[in-house]
Amino acid sequence: MKTVRYIKEIRDILSSYREEGKTIGLVPTMGALHDGHLSLIHQCMANDSITVVSIFINPTQFNDEKDFRMYPRNTEKDLELLKKNECHIVFLPPEKEMYPTKEIRKFDFGSLDKHMEGEFRPGHFNGVAQIVTKLFSIIEPDHAYFGEKDFQQLTIIKAIVRQLNLPVQIISCPIIREPDGLAMSSRNPLLTASERISATKIPEALFKIKELTDKMGINELKEFLWNEIDLDPNLRTEYVEIVEETGLNPVNNWDEPGSKRACIAVKVGSIRLIDNIKIS
Ligand code: PAF
Repeated sequence: MKTVRYIKEIRDILSSYREEGKTIGLVPTMGALHDGHLSLIHQCMANDSITVVSIFINPTQFNDEKDFRMYPRNTEKDLELLKKNECHIVFLPPEKEMYPTKEIRKFDFGSLDKHMEGEFRPGHFNGVAQIVTKLFSIIEPDHAYFGEKDFQQLTIIKAIVRQLNLPVQIISCPIIREPDGLAMSSRNPLLTASERISATKIPEALFKIKELTDKMGINELKEFLWNEIDLDPNLRTEYVEIVEETGLNPVNNWDEPGSKRACIAVKVGSIRLIDNIKIS
């Protein structure tokens, strides 16, 4: 496994692989790797000749300075895990390499960022778009792999790729859950023991509403989900939304066209977790 910190070096390495006819897959991460990331990496290794994992905690996507400072950092452990899993290249750039000058690019996501994370974390997706487009222009991957846990992020990245005609195919990968159902997240290890127990109520409630779609209207279902979760004193729901999967517009009626997904953000103590489930 090669660990590369500088853009020129990774471009040189990748261009020689490309000349040999190899395909390049990219798994962008912010480190603190878990089995969810490993599932993206394994999918990448199955599809592409060369797997590049980037680790960069992108400051421009944090709308809260404290959240940025508290974000888990485990580079040594991450590198060991990646080596054990036979990843080919880790791209671990210093901040100055990715942002040599102040980043000012502004993206327009239309209606895609008007609700949910876009509403509660202003500027977050602009920061994600800044870093992801930089990574795409440096790595020039054939495929890039993103998890469905961040469903709004995945949809927005697909939209940017279309908007900018970028020559990369986005591969979406399913949510990986702990045995008790909690969606894997780099933030889970920050939970206390009692918060960790409470957090399982989030997937439990999501799985429950999936079974109730023919018994309740959309607003009733959203209220049910919100109340189920907030029954636990460690949990405070930030939003519950049922959206149509392609445009991410909230739906009010089951008859509206398109597949639907329930999305939720919950504060578990001071830690904010998100999750979602396809419901129709
Ligand atoms: O999902 C993440 O970990 C980040 O938002 C990403 C895509 C690596 C960009 O920093």
